Amino acid sequence: MDLAIFGATGQVGGVMAQILTERNFPVDSIRFFATSRSKGKYIDFKGQKIQVEDVDNEQFDGIDIALFSCGATASGILAPKVANKGGIVIDNSSYFRQNPQVPLIVPEVNAHALDEIPLNIIANPNCTTMVAMPPLKILHDLWTLKKMVVTSFQAVSGSGKAGVDELYQQLTTYSGNIRDLAFDGKAVDFGASKVFPKVTALNVIPQAGSFVEDGSNITSEEAKLTNESRKILEISNLNVSATCTRVSVMTGHSLSLTLTFESETDTVQALDALSNKEYIKLENVPTPQDASGKDATFVGRIRHASNDKHELSMFVVGDNLRKGAALNAVQIAETLVARNKISN
Ligand SMILES: NC(=O)c1ccc[n+]([C@@H]2O[C@H](COP(=O)([O-])OP(=O)(O)OC[C@H]3O[C@@H](n4cnc5c(N)ncnc54)[C@H](OP(=O)(O)O)[C@@H]3O)[C@@H](O)[C@H]2O)c1
Repeated sequence: MDLAIFGATGQVGGVMAQILTERNFPVDSIRFFATSRSKGKYIDFKGQKIQVEDVDNEQFDGIDIALFSCGATASGILAPKVANKGGIVIDNSSYFRQNPQVPLIVPEVNAHALDEIPLNIIANPNCTTMVAMPPLKILHDLWTLKKMVVTSFQAVSGSGKAGVDELYQQLTTYSGNIRDLAFDGKAVDFGASKVFPKVTALNVIPQAGSFVEDGSNITSEEAKLTNESRKILEISNLNVSATCTRVSVMTGHSLSLTLTFESETDTVQALDALSNKEYIKLENVPTPQDASGKDATFVGRIRHASNDKHELSMFVVGDNLRKGAALNAVQIAETLVARNKISN
């Protein structure tokens, strides 16, 4: 396969290259694209130093599969250009996810939706949605999911390198004694917050993403979690109540879920069904630090939190850079190869 990574100098692009190597994906050639800011940079791939190309050169011939991780605006412009040259684009941004002609894929959940790829573009879900999908599909197949009440706890790396840098800066250059935070939330000066609306260091911000402009007080991350869950699970009327928060965590998105099903549920049966899958790791108290750097979705705290047996509560955690972005994109590419969907 002749591959390309768009956004190769970013966090997700870097993890994509690493995962292609780890999984021994059949790569004949690979090209790395980024902005003119990255001109002259080299990236190591399997012992070779490969020079980063500027997307503005638009030299997109001969690409079989392009893994995109360069943000929605760039994807909207560049993905059709690559797709029109015959390459299949697997896009990590939100730009195409709700386009009915673009499959939105989690291979363990809805690989069948790859049967038709009319625009040569496939979308990768949002990193928060992704964490919930594998376990939810398993439980939906058992009892038919009707409603999801969810609170996310999202890591700063979900907002790119800039998000990581902001938390790092705040954790390392604050003035004052952080013990004073126990008594006065304003006692420590963490400096300016630019990426996030408030200080992320040792904090919880009940706003991930921006507010959608319809006066609903819903954020873009909450809207994505709602709409993408419906599309991937193929439950168009799934009732979703989402609150997305940003927390003082580098990598690993967590979700607290209370699910309502058509049938009564059983915790032992749920544990049994989830334990049979190599892409799920059961751990009663899963944390971002357990999941960071791992491929599996960590699932725990499975319980009947109320006395309604139609409800089941749980806590799930996944690495937003791996399964939440890069790994899932590579798995989609692997599925395309396995299904002979690539003509080279
Ligand atoms: N972080 C996550 O957990 C996550 C999860 C799912 C999806 N995503 C998606 O992946 C994208 C990248 O995330 P990240 O965490 O890797 O961000 P990042 O570390 O900030 O990297 C952004 C990458 O995109 C490139 N880029 C920026 N603007 C571009 C443009 N106009 N044309 C071409 N390339 C451009 C950058 O190139 P330069 O280095 O030259 O600036 C860099 O390689 C996000 O915008 C989001 O859409 C991220």
